[in-house]
Amino acid sequence: MSTLVVVGSQWGDEGKGKITDYMAQKADVVVRSQGGNNAGHTIMIDGEKFALRSIPSGIFNPKIKNVMANGMVIDPKQMLEELAGLEARGITNYQLFVSNRAHVVLPYHRELDGAYEAFKGDKKIGTTKKGIGPCYADKINRIGIRIADLIQPEIFKEALHQTLTLKNMELQMLGLEPLQFDPIYDEYVEYGKKIKPFVCDTSLLLEEEIEKGSKVLFEGAQGVMLCVDHGTYPYVTSSSPTGVSVPVNTGIAPRYIDNILGICKAYNTRVGEGPFPTEINGDVATYIRERGHEYGTVTKRPRRVGWLDCVALNYARRISGINYLSLMLFDVLTGLEKIKICYAYELDGKLINTIPATLAEYERCKPVYLEMDGWMEDITNVTSFDELPENAKAYIKKIEELTKTEIVIFSIGPDRKQTIQLKDFFK
Ligand code: GDP
Ligand code: IMO
Ligand code: MG
Repeated sequence: MSTLVVVGSQWGDEGKGKITDYMAQKADVVVRSQGGNNAGHTIMIDGEKFALRSIPSGIFNPKIKNVMANGMVIDPKQMLEELAGLEARGITNYQLFVSNRAHVVLPYHRELDGAYEAFKGDKKIGTTKKGIGPCYADKINRIGIRIADLIQPEIFKEALHQTLTLKNMELQMLGLEPLQFDPIYDEYVEYGKKIKPFVCDTSLLLEEEIEKGSKVLFEGAQGVMLCVDHGTYPYVTSSSPTGVSVPVNTGIAPRYIDNILGICKAYNTRVGEGPFPTEINGDVATYIRERGHEYGTVTKRPRRVGWLDCVALNYARRISGINYLSLMLFDVLTGLEKIKICYAYELDGKLINTIPATLAEYERCKPVYLEMDGWMEDITNVTSFDELPENAKAYIKKIEELTKTEIVIFSIGPDRKQTIQLKDFFK
């Protein structure tokens, strides 16, 4: 058995897509466990850029089985458009399996997402407005519609009737127009027909694959700090993107998880609202944002930028079961004279090393930094750890020391080739 979970260890956009694609070169199965098209995973293959949203990052390799698991919320319209977009770019030979238990994002979810944000005013989350939160809310409230329902027109009709009646009351309460049943039904029944050939019990498929020794890669979306249970609630997404959530989100036994690789930027970013203790503004922030092209893949919003936060990283490691780290966008820091790392917070005059539960406390946390010398040499073409400038090596070693976790991959550019792997997970 050989499985690896790729998990975002910060606030998302750490480079999970790049590493999943890189690792997928040796994998048999790639699984998206949770989230939906709020994710934007960028992959560069020989200079060609792909931004995947809900389709797993193994889609480029015809030999790979790509699984969209039960923990996902799937917008059929967007998913089919994404597939059509890939096909238009020559990605026509792929294997895709969609869980019959995944939940379906419907038009009222998107409407409600926007309406709740407007209702919250200056306390808005800054969601991607893709309907993710309202869809997960329906799942938990047991009024969701699943892929298995969507692909059976009679069942879908009955489920949609009931849910839409309720959702229209909610929409009207929020000052929006109710939605008509017929156009939604007609449109989504067609999507159901198109998706049906991909649908199966992906939990069974995964067990069979793992039992026969296939190499299975789980591609996390979002990041631990956006986890609905353990993140900076309520400024989080509505699923649990941790490594330990993979068994629930995919229907496999926890004993099948071998390793959990935390994907971590060499600094920090965040899109959307919510506390971010190491956030910086000014010239250095602009330098990092421009070099790292830190603009949202999904919403194009400029990402907030900050120094590497090892308190949050350690928290993510602990909560998520991360046992190795992959350090991303390392090249972006080239050219900075000084680089800071946050190793503790000061909260009301005391040093702390974990994340407080309440927003009020977290907002009062001040980062405590150590400062390191930067490097000026271009590192985008190095092929080994030894070739790195001494200060870059020292930076990596310091992060390993602060997180007590080995950095087994470092990434020095967006392309597959710009990846230095020090440990092979799939022998
Ligand atoms: P994900 O959501 O975790 O898959 O990450 P995103 O794709 O949203 O954002 C990561 C961005 O960084 C993408 O534009 C990648 O192409 C880019 N990227 C990934 N690794 C590196 C790297 O090592 N160096 C640079 N310069 N860019 C990288
Ligand atoms: P990937 O997989 C970064 C953020 C949103 C918002 C909050 C809630 O590309 O790393 P949602 O639409 O999920 O209800 O928004 O979560 N968010 C992400 N930030 N990367 C992502 O995914 C994100 N998915 C959601 O910006 O702050
Ligand atoms: Mg992203």
